[in-house]
Amino acid sequence: MANQPQVAWVTGGTGGIGTAICRSLAEAGFLVVAGYRNPDKAKTWLESQKADGFDNMALSGVDLSNYQACMDGAREIIDTHGPISVLVNCAGITRDGTLKKMAQEQWTEVIDTNLNSVFNTCRSVINPMLEQGYGRIINISSINGRKGQFGQVNYAAAKAGMHGLTMSLAQETATKGITVNTVSPGYIATDMIMEIPEKVREAIRETIPVKRYGTPEEIGRLVAFLADEQSGFITGANIDINGGQFMG
Ligand code: CAA
Repeated sequence: MANQPQVAWVTGGTGGIGTAICRSLAEAGFLVVAGYRNPDKAKTWLESQKADGFDNMALSGVDLSNYQACMDGAREIIDTHGPISVLVNCAGITRDGTLKKMAQEQWTEVIDTNLNSVFNTCRSVINPMLEQGYGRIINISSINGRKGQFGQVNYAAAKAGMHGLTMSLAQETATKGITVNTVSPGYIATDMIMEIPEKVREAIRETIPVKRYGTPEEIGRLVAFLADEQSGFITGANIDINGGQFMG
């Protein structure tokens, strides 16, 4: 792949962690295609990245829970920008609540957005990656997929499922130049964390040995490391980045 422009598709690229991942990959020289849900927000987002000097970024608005939309979206990215070297699955939502109160929609929305999307995007890039004999797939899971979390049966199930996909796909692609890894962030200072009631949030922070939330940039660095061509011996791994809150 040397000397070829390398394209990285980051789903959820305009979000809190997604933005930092996009910027790290752009700094590493990738042409970054950021997936988004809200077109107005995405346009402003792209303008502000360009204002910060990130010219090598573009947008892709695909409904990730829709299989055909992902197949078409990947094809469009390849036709417009070139072969996809890196896929980062970072799109995710929470619909927290205890199971006894959880509506079926809370379950379905989270499984669709956080897990079915990963099947859809991986399926959409896998054959082109096999044909080019190269790829880096990085699935952004969560500490809560590793340990479970009160109020998150839906989210934890999706995030744990994501790593099952990672390990299986890593075995299917190990001899084909493609690595597949999971990154499991702990509590990172983003809007998603701010949605947790303050009292609960503060109690959670006390359980983090480093006594602070992580930063999105810390996740971006790790993703850029895994996305590098020289990281080819890391595959099927689930890398914790959580301030010591869970040591599996
Ligand atoms: N462990 C045990 N018991 C707990 C508990 C916990 N962690 N948290 C709350 N409880 C108890 C309460 O003390 C209360 O007990 P009593 O009934 O005896 O008074 C009871 O559970 C409350 O139960 P409810 O079903 O009434 O819960 P609720 O509707 O008040 O709120 C909740 C539940 C919405 C899940 C709320 O606890 C919450 O938001 N928790 C945070 C969940 C969380 O960590 N989400 C992570 C979001 S960020 C993210 O997901 C990113 C990432 O990857 C890390």
